[in-house]
Amino acid sequence: MIPLDPVALGARADAMLMELAAISAEPDRLTRLYLTPEHRRAADLVAAWMLASGLAVREDALATVRGRLEVGSGTARTLILGSHIDTVIDAGRYDGALGVVAAIVAADTLRRSGAVLPFAVEVCAFGDEEGVRFPTTLLGSSAVAGNLDPADLDRTDAYDVSVRAALATYGCDLEAAAAARIAAEDAVGYLEVHIEQGPVLEREGMPLGVVTAIAGATRAVVTVSGEAGHAGTVPMGLRSDALAAASELVLAVERIGHAGAASDLVATVGRMVVRPGAVNVVPGAVELSLDVRASSDAPRGDAMAAIRAAAAEIASRRGVGIDIAVTHDRDTAPCTPAIVDVLSDAVAALGLPPRRLMSGAGHDGQAMAMLTDIGMIFVRCRGGVSHNPAEYASPEDIGLAVAALVRAVEGLAEKERERR
Ligand code: GLV
Ligand code: MN
Ligand code: MN
Repeated sequence: MIPLDPVALGARADAMLMELAAISAEPDRLTRLYLTPEHRRAADLVAAWMLASGLAVREDALATVRGRLEVGSGTARTLILGSHIDTVIDAGRYDGALGVVAAIVAADTLRRSGAVLPFAVEVCAFGDEEGVRFPTTLLGSSAVAGNLDPADLDRTDAYDVSVRAALATYGCDLEAAAAARIAAEDAVGYLEVHIEQGPVLEREGMPLGVVTAIAGATRAVVTVSGEAGHAGTVPMGLRSDALAAASELVLAVERIGHAGAASDLVATVGRMVVRPGAVNVVPGAVELSLDVRASSDAPRGDAMAAIRAAAAEIASRRGVGIDIAVTHDRDTAPCTPAIVDVLSDAVAALGLPPRRLMSGAGHDGQAMAMLTDIGMIFVRCRGGVSHNPAEYASPEDIGLAVAALVRAVEGLAEKERERR
């Protein structure tokens, strides 16, 4: 085992996180969406850190920054570490960025130690985990895992710019998309450090946790079509008010979410666009987002069916159209038991209890699970607050996570040597 100083590792990672968090579309808050100029600046910073850490750097066709460390026997097999550098709107500083920074610091620590590994280590900084700009998500990790859906490339943002066009502007060459893929037989596994985004570890006084599964999720774009009209002249009884109908649907989604509490069901409408959106016009159309998750797949499917039924009832009673177009549907991804064990041993090697817990949030591991074995380390999150600028993980806990990641790589190296 190489010697590790978690305090120093944490201080270094924390300084990098603060530098990355300064890269934003807005001066007073952190917003960094996929394929934007601020994504480019963040990607360039990450690439510079990778280079300084001795990694061979490239950017693939979906804008994932990839840094490769070869300190071994020239094998083609690769252990992938990573997370994402896109954020939500008015984000915290740790969601995604923590995993990218932890992976770079871990890779640098391994290189500096002179350790010889039986595989290459590739650090991936994915660009589309949040799915905020486009109605897609996990594009970068899906390309690495070889399960990118080409239809997703034609999806458009609020300004009608397609993913395909945004990639071209960003400087990516989609012709090379196939080269982003890692072959399944060449993948050793995928490890990700991530802030917990929930309250469990803090409540139990534990700095780190080991994830057992990542909850599945369904996302949809819902379009409510009514009829625009003059707010002063169309009598109440003759209106097809799309916003009033959409509002009923929002309450139905909330009610269905509450009803599924026993299976950790959560259902959210996070965004609504009203058209034409004027004080004196009866709303003619509304587009709203839908996000439904649960700790297992059947309750999520049942909730989607209940939401569709509620939408049909509201549409027929109110004389509007309601269309629900699913844009993302991923089943629950279990973490690989052997990797969960390696990560648990890595956490225990630091003298910490390896608390196992489920992830309610989505992660790139969901796409990577279709390629290879996956596992995640969670870092304690103050107040359980995430997707919020108040999100916080301490440098001390972050240092422990980097140390656990290094220990996990050592553990997997041991297994890989036995496998040969
Ligand atoms: C990503 O943070 C998600 O779970 O929505
Ligand atoms: Mn995340
Ligand atoms: Mn997030």
